[in-house]
Amino acid sequence: MSTVHIATGAGRGMGRACADRLAPTADVLVVVDRDETALGAAADALAGSAARIVPVTLDVTDAAAVAALADQVQGLGDLSGVAHAAGISPTMADWRAVLDVDLVGTALLIDALTPLVTPGTAMVCFASMAAHLMGLAGPTDPAIDAVLDDPRAPDFLERMREAGGEGIEEPGIAYSYAKRGVQRLVRRTAIAWGPRGGRINSMSPGLIDTPMGRQEFDHQPVMAVMLEQTPLRREGSADELAAVVAFLCSPEAGYVSGTDVLVDGGCVAAMEAMVAGPTPGG
Ligand SMILES: NC(=O)c1ccc[n+]([C@@H]2O[C@H](COP(=O)([O-])OP(=O)(O)OC[C@H]3O[C@@H](n4cnc5c(N)ncnc54)[C@H](O)[C@@H]3O)[C@@H](O)[C@H]2O)c1
Repeated sequence: MSTVHIATGAGRGMGRACADRLAPTADVLVVVDRDETALGAAADALAGSAARIVPVTLDVTDAAAVAALADQVQGLGDLSGVAHAAGISPTMADWRAVLDVDLVGTALLIDALTPLVTPGTAMVCFASMAAHLMGLAGPTDPAIDAVLDDPRAPDFLERMREAGGEGIEEPGIAYSYAKRGVQRLVRRTAIAWGPRGGRINSMSPGLIDTPMGRQEFDHQPVMAVMLEQTPLRREGSADELAAVVAFLCSPEAGYVSGTDVLVDGGCVAAMEAMVAGPTPGG
């Protein structure tokens, strides 16, 4: 039986870098994006790789299309690695779309792929250091977490608005909650997949040099402050993040499941230290 990897958001940025990293380690690589032109260019560039490349244009918020993707994958072979990088950032859309794409879309993909999980299946969902930085503003409201933990509810967005109040309409706040929701969803899914030999983790990138990263940098002055604070004093590259995803999808990471891997050059640690102030002994 052939092995099949999936890379979503493969048209550009980190999803594209994940496709490059995953292509040598499966018989088939299904590349997914809603941007047909970018996806076509990525598929062309990947055409020389060992894996057979199967491009699928879809929007991850389209439940029927995501279910059809799972059917297609099942027909291609055994599901092996999944890098789910498709997502949008606060300057790209309003709060509803941010929660819908980044959290509900992730839940739809996990639901559709769950029946395909066999021993060795490993998925990585992209969260963000934004979810880690929420802790700087104080403890998260358990009532909001309860709503976040049910992204499949038909009235999910209305319930988030009610629990989160007006603040949730700020796309940056909605983004942080969406990514926190991804981290929590992954932990619950690891419990469900584990007995079947499947693993799932989230990865939280810091400031990464991709089209999205550049757009946020251009529109949000706080990004420059965070870059200045980042101990490594630079952004990460898409390939540095994809290397971690490839590891998490590989048998080398066979005992890693239900966790979040923060890949941020030390930014969250530095931001926490900055907010906490000087400590005795430095
Ligand atoms: N770049 C950063 O600094 C950064 C930091 C933290 C987290 N992230 C997260 O990492 C992931 C990848 O980010 P990136 O920087 O590579 O982004 P990017 O914008 O450069 O690429 C994202 C890709 O996803 C696709 N996409 C967006 N919405 C989609 C949808 N609904 N259905 C299908 N495809 C869709 C886009 O067409 C695009 O090709 C995202 O989830 C993002 O939130 C990025």
